[in-house]
Order: sequence, then structure tokens, then C-alpha cells
Amino acid sequence: MMRALGINASPRKDGNCHILLQEALKVAKDTGHTTETIVLDTLNISPWREPNSARKIGESPAKDDMEKVEAKIKDADAIILASPIYFGSLSAQAKIMIDRC
Ligand SMILES: Cc1cc2nc3c(=O)[nH]c(=O)nc-3n(C[C@H](O)[C@H](O)[C@H](O)COP(=O)(O)O)c2cc1C
Repeated sequence: MMRALGINASPRKDGNCHILLQEALKVAKDTGHTTETIVLDTLNISPWREPNSARKIGESPAKDDMEKVEAKIKDADAIILASPIYFGSLSAQAKIMIDRC
């Protein structure tokens, strides 16, 4: 059994990303896998900052909700990231998480 993690990077709670992500996760669920969704906009994740680069590998650079997200990402077998496109790019919520990864 696989663990599928859905990450919603939209600020709109019930928007297009939410709908599409739930549809995608439904397929995983229907085929016997466990699913979980996290909504980045409800979390407190600060952007990557320069002083963080002095950290040791494996240490969390900032004490915020990225620690929880990191644990869930490490635990997952599959990740589905749903982000709106804003001016040709991912949402800020998505980009901040990716940079922190
Ligand atoms: C500020 C803003 C900028 C956008 N820029 C783009 C864009 O460059 N390209 C695009 O295809 N859609 C763009 N869109 C449309 C959204 O990506 C699209 O409606 C998306 O499905 C919204 O997802 P949501 O309902 O989960 O918030 C933009 C929407 C907003 C609000």
C-alpha cells in the first residue's frame, strides 16, 4: 500500500486546485492507497533566508510548519502538488515550500 500526499498550494479553499487534487487522490484511494491532503495556505512557512545556508545538512533551518510538511513528504510514496498559475509561475505558497525543500 502506498501513501499519497496531496499538497494544495492555492489560497482558495474550495477552488480549482482543491477540486482537481481531490479527484486525483480519489484514484489513489479507490485503488487501496492511503491519502492525505495538506493546504499550504493554512500553514506558517517562512521563505528560505540567507542565514539558513549556514545550517548543517539535515537540520531544520527555521522552526515553523515546514517541519510538519517535511515529515509528511519523507513519509509519502507519492506526492501530488496542485498549484494555481499566477503570472506564468507557481503560487508563492508552492514556491516557498519548494525552496525550503
Ligand atoms: C493573480 C492571478 C494571476 C494569474 N495568472 C495566470 C497565468 O499567468 N496563467 C494562467 O494560465 N492562469 C493564471 N491565473 C488563473 C489561475 O491560475 C487559475 O484560475 C487557477 O485554476 C486558480 O486555482 P484556484 O481555483 O485553486 O485558486 C491567474 C489567477 C490570478 C488570481
